[in-house]
Amino acid sequence: MQDDLERILFDEPTILRRLDEIAAQISKDYSRKDLTVIAVLNGSLVFMADLMRRIQLPLRLDCLSVASYHGKAQTSGEVIFKSTTADPSYGGQIALPDVQDRHILILDDILDSGNTLVAIREKLETARPRTIKVCVLLSKKKQRARKVNADYLGFEIEDEFVVGYGLDYDERYRNLPYIGVLRRELIKSDQ
Ligand code: IMP
Ligand code: MG
Repeated sequence: MQDDLERILFDEPTILRRLDEIAAQISKDYSRKDLTVIAVLNGSLVFMADLMRRIQLPLRLDCLSVASYHGKAQTSGEVIFKSTTADPSYGGQIALPDVQDRHILILDDILDSGNTLVAIREKLETARPRTIKVCVLLSKKKQRARKVNADYLGFEIEDEFVVGYGLDYDERYRNLPYIGVLRRELIKSDQ
């Protein structure tokens, strides 16, 4: 797998050291609040597991699943909400986590165009939470289609396609324990 990477950006100890810092900040900021973490699957799975075990609060966890890339290396601009627990009482749409009056922290793997986080944020706001903040592991330095502010950020990276530590290309490489840049020739050129 490592041969498919152009270079490694963040190894595991570097990622975990940064998570210690972010978790300490979150624990402090929410020390008097009832925190609900909403993780965006599948990309934030590894990040979520490592981060939440470092937060010193009895938080609640909920997960949302979205798809925006459809096996491509560029965003399609369209975000589809997926759920394994379709709720018929919710007009046939997917069931949103119960966030009313709660302090919500959305966890996502990476901020690229911003489409995904804007869509999730807007969707969750319709369920009237008390507060919403956003925590992302990575943010690409680029002009965004939609303006999104990350309240907690792991690392800023250049505008390159990265995999590992939960991040995929066409659903592969999520299990790499570190984050690296995928070799360009492995990204299908018709996409
Ligand atoms: P956005 O809607 O363009 O901000 O894209 C966000 C989603 O696209 C993330 O949650 C990832 O699943 C995926 N994504 C964006 N950039 C990358 C990347 O460099 N590697 C892997 N997945 C990415
Ligand atoms: Mg993805």
